[in-house]
Amino acid sequence: MLEKGKAVVVLGAQFGDEGKGKFVDVLSEKADLVCRVQGGNNAGHTIYVGSEKIVTHLLPIGVVRENCEVAIGSGVVIDPFVLHDEFEKISAKGINLDPRRVHLDGRAHVILPYHRLQDGKREAERSKSGEAIGTTGRGIGPAYASRAYREGLRMAELIDSDQLKAHFNQHPHLREGLTLELEEKLSFIASFMKPFVKDTAHITNSKLHHGARVLIEGAQGALLDPSFGTYPFVTSSSLVSGSCAGGIGIPPWKISQVIGVIKSYSTRVGNGPYPGELSGTLETHLRDLGKEYGATTGRPRRVGWLDLVALRYMSRVNGITSIALMKSDVLCGFDQVGIVTAYRDKRTNELMPGWPMTPRDWDNVDAVVEFYEGWPACTEGDALTRPFQRYVQRIEHAANAPVVFVSTGAERSAGLWYQN
Ligand code: IMP
Repeated sequence: MLEKGKAVVVLGAQFGDEGKGKFVDVLSEKADLVCRVQGGNNAGHTIYVGSEKIVTHLLPIGVVRENCEVAIGSGVVIDPFVLHDEFEKISAKGINLDPRRVHLDGRAHVILPYHRLQDGKREAERSKSGEAIGTTGRGIGPAYASRAYREGLRMAELIDSDQLKAHFNQHPHLREGLTLELEEKLSFIASFMKPFVKDTAHITNSKLHHGARVLIEGAQGALLDPSFGTYPFVTSSSLVSGSCAGGIGIPPWKISQVIGVIKSYSTRVGNGPYPGELSGTLETHLRDLGKEYGATTGRPRRVGWLDLVALRYMSRVNGITSIALMKSDVLCGFDQVGIVTAYRDKRTNELMPGWPMTPRDWDNVDAVVEFYEGWPACTEGDALTRPFQRYVQRIEHAANAPVVFVSTGAERSAGLWYQN
């Protein structure tokens, strides 16, 4: 999968929570550098090593494999309080977090308490008219808004007390919520972070030049992309493969592959359109089987069948070259498994030809669901069982890309590389 001198993108091809953490962990065993390039601590990447559960929200999950270095690129928004906590938790597990191994870009924007407060206020306002996004409340949107307003504070300024002071003097509203105690803590964290803050674009390019294998650990899922997702029910940073190079500062032609990660069914956290969503006992059953509760907020995730219309669209927009199919074991034992194959327009009863663009279009989507024979087990030795294989082939046909990895359990070793 990984090639010397090239980058591979691991991209969530649904609404996030596809199991990217586990897949990145599997690949990072052979990587030299693993990078986060978008989002912030709205993400939660989880892996299970034996009985131990490890979750990271800002550091790439690749940090757990000490054979590789990790970087947080300029496209990420960093909450320094959260990052500092994460440093403490991860190093308490005995994992080496040396500044020679961990790189934070000086141009990455900082999430301040002000941004979290704004996130809450805006959501409260929107919910009055029933239009709340259901954000993670981590201040992600307001931090990117500060970047767009050209008022944002960046890591390189955070670690320089003079520049930090000048920045707050110029933009005093950014101080909101920063109590004296928090300000002291921030200045302590800033000095702690100083040796980690560098130019990660330079580091990544120079490593690629010397033959490093780079892994881009996508966050969220491309259906939450602000341009190509279900706007306005999306996140605030660009998630499609075309933006990944820009989130760390490498040329796009250094990316050799885009691996789309999907679950064998689907989930969504927060509000917004969701064709194929289940309700009733099937919903609760699938949620419990898949342990579908947010890694970041603990919210119960909405669950549904796999959506091939969305997969086809995502495959095209992102140029998915292969697919990692996660959580296949969760569907074992279902008599039949549904799959969304088309969207029908309720107004005309015709099939929709393209991707719905407005909330009104989405309101009129009726999902066409086909049912497949279920599978008692995914694998038999090294092969896929017949009914599961038929399901996999349907996915490959829709995505026009091969399924190369099938995950059959939460544990690191539960999965197989697959070639048909
Ligand atoms: P925000 O990114 O916190 O602004 O939230 C915007 C939308 O994206 C909400 O529906 C969130 O639930 C969703 N979201 C953000 N990050 C993730 C993620 O990592 N996994 C799944 N959903 C996410």
